[in-house]
Amino acid sequence: QPDLPLQGKKVLVTAGGTVERLDPVRYLSNDSSGKMGYAVAEEARGMGAEVVLISAPSSLPRPEGVEFVPVVSALDMLSAVMERLKDVDIVIKAAAVADYRPAEASPVKIKKKDEEMTIRLVKNPDILQQIGERKTKQYVIGFAAETNDLEANGLDKLRRKNCDLMVANDVTLEGAGFGTDTNIVTLLDKDGNVERLPILSKREVARHLLKLAAERLPSAGGER
Ligand code: C5P
Repeated sequence: QPDLPLQGKKVLVTAGGTVERLDPVRYLSNDSSGKMGYAVAEEARGMGAEVVLISAPSSLPRPEGVEFVPVVSALDMLSAVMERLKDVDIVIKAAAVADYRPAEASPVKIKKKDEEMTIRLVKNPDILQQIGERKTKQYVIGFAAETNDLEANGLDKLRRKNCDLMVANDVTLEGAGFGTDTNIVTLLDKDGNVERLPILSKREVARHLLKLAAERLPSAGGER
């Protein structure tokens, strides 16, 4: 079916910015709005896929017709993703995952005391990298938000994390990155193909990515 290219396929999408607790009322997070990932989830459903959206906190309404799995931290997201990985055909990792989390979350509100205080952070697991290590048939798409050397950094991440496609965007450009309804992305793949897309709505970017993934799934028999 030309208009339902993902009929019978399962798509796992992550979205939003993870929240890393410091104490009951404070946390570390980032500016991710969730718009890119939610757009992917909605478009995938529209293209006939069975969709699971694993979402860190976002103020966006839950998309209808998708399995919605709310998570908070990077560690929560890791387990939610790994539980479901083997069942899916396409993974789109649009979430902004915190690289570090507080070494410990205080069970009670941290009190104001000295003039200076230090918070010790420890590294979070790289979820995308673990997907890259464990994937079998899955077509895996990662995102790279960059402020400089877009293509070189994107390509480096593609290789390091063993993705099939890396969506690189320069977050310093007007109309790209966090919070906007549009994005300006460059697609990099393992074969060295580089596709620079014009400014598009996040919905259009999502559609383009999903079409590419559909064409490249093992069952599609397309060139890989
Ligand atoms: O390394 P960087 O964070 O720039 O890579 C971005 C890509 O890696 C995104 O697809 C993001 O979801 C994923 N990522 C992840 N786990 C992390 C850090 C990033 O899955 N701890």
